[in-house]
Amino acid sequence: MNLDHIVEQWKGRPTYAVIDLDAYARNVRIMREHIRDEARYCVVVKANGYGLGAIPLARTAIQNGADLLAVATVDEGAQLRRAGISTDILLMGPAGPAEKDLAVGMDMTVVMNDIPFAHGLAKTVREDGRSKPLKVHLKVDTGMRRFGVMPQDAVAAARKIMSFPELRLEGLMTHFASADVPDLSSAIEQVRVFDQVVADLEAAGIDIPIKHVCNSAGTVQFPEWHKDMVRSGLATYGIRPAPHIPLPGEAGEMKQVVTIHSMVARVIPLEAGDSVSYGGTWTATEQGRGALIPLGYADGYLRGLSNRGYMAIEGERADVIGRVCMDQTILKMPVTLASQTRQKVVVIGNGTDDTPGAPDLEELAELAGTIPHELMTTIAPRVPKLYVRDGQVVGLADLDGYRDL
Ligand SMILES: Cc1ncc(COP(=O)(O)O)c(C=O)c1O
Repeated sequence: MNLDHIVEQWKGRPTYAVIDLDAYARNVRIMREHIRDEARYCVVVKANGYGLGAIPLARTAIQNGADLLAVATVDEGAQLRRAGISTDILLMGPAGPAEKDLAVGMDMTVVMNDIPFAHGLAKTVREDGRSKPLKVHLKVDTGMRRFGVMPQDAVAAARKIMSFPELRLEGLMTHFASADVPDLSSAIEQVRVFDQVVADLEAAGIDIPIKHVCNSAGTVQFPEWHKDMVRSGLATYGIRPAPHIPLPGEAGEMKQVVTIHSMVARVIPLEAGDSVSYGGTWTATEQGRGALIPLGYADGYLRGLSNRGYMAIEGERADVIGRVCMDQTILKMPVTLASQTRQKVVVIGNGTDDTPGAPDLEELAELAGTIPHELMTTIAPRVPKLYVRDGQVVGLADLDGYRDL
């Protein structure tokens, strides 16, 4: 995607994110192609679509083959409903007791982790006067030790949930702790425990139609684990679950959806001995120039990238020097570049020729000692997000929220 005309059209803050809806749509289609035909595709748009904007991404996902959407919190699901999205929304939770009304009112498919919650939910459904039972999925803790019922309690939990006419037990799920590492023994054990729960349920005469275990790492690597549904976030955003796990499709066909852009706001003259930014953690050894970039940790550019990260100025690598500030970061201006402000900066590239010289999310996460999920979800609301389809900006998210353009 050539961004030049978009950059020229943009009249807002010089630091902004571009969300490539065509890339996202293609990613969804390639994932759908990869997922076994009999399995549903639940696209995970929790945490505001991993920081990139749940509403436009959810709509694009639905148009390109998603069967369900997954969120973590009730508010996230409600936001999608208010935007007119009627597709099933899996509320992975755990939701708080006071959130039942909203979850029921917004017709979410609620993940059940304990029986007291099921009691309360059934009561809320009764009081709500719904004509149809509320769909629920039972989560089993097969090894992650985060939440879900323990495997030995699953049959009793399923029986209890099924005893409420207000609830319909549609799904049975678990979540991998370590499907993205080369040693898959823990994931294999989790699948074994899950399959045993399914067998126990069958022996008790209980058939739960939608069984699902896979996140992106499981989905991409193991079609035999797709069962009746997969839940994919990261891969759908065009990011590998880990460097050793290639995404489906031809190499490079699935693409990172987000890039972040900025510009040089000031060229800083530097003499040998000059220290830069708070605490003076970087000192010039010779005469040179710094470049002030109007983006800092309050935008999601992690402070841990101080003296570690790099960006591209006009396609040339430029290292972060000194500490990342709340609102600005300073780069070492490459000696080959002219001394100009307003030069184009790519903060986070997508690993293609469109963003030469810039790190992609995977590389920047590695430099920051974190994972791409964290970098994406910390992109701050004050960074305007431009949604691009067919070379046009079709949506904008800023401090006032999302709107179609
Ligand atoms: C329960 C559950 N399922 C699926 C996912 C999606 O994981 P990924 O982004 O690795 O595809 C998550 C994300 O953390 C999750 O918590």
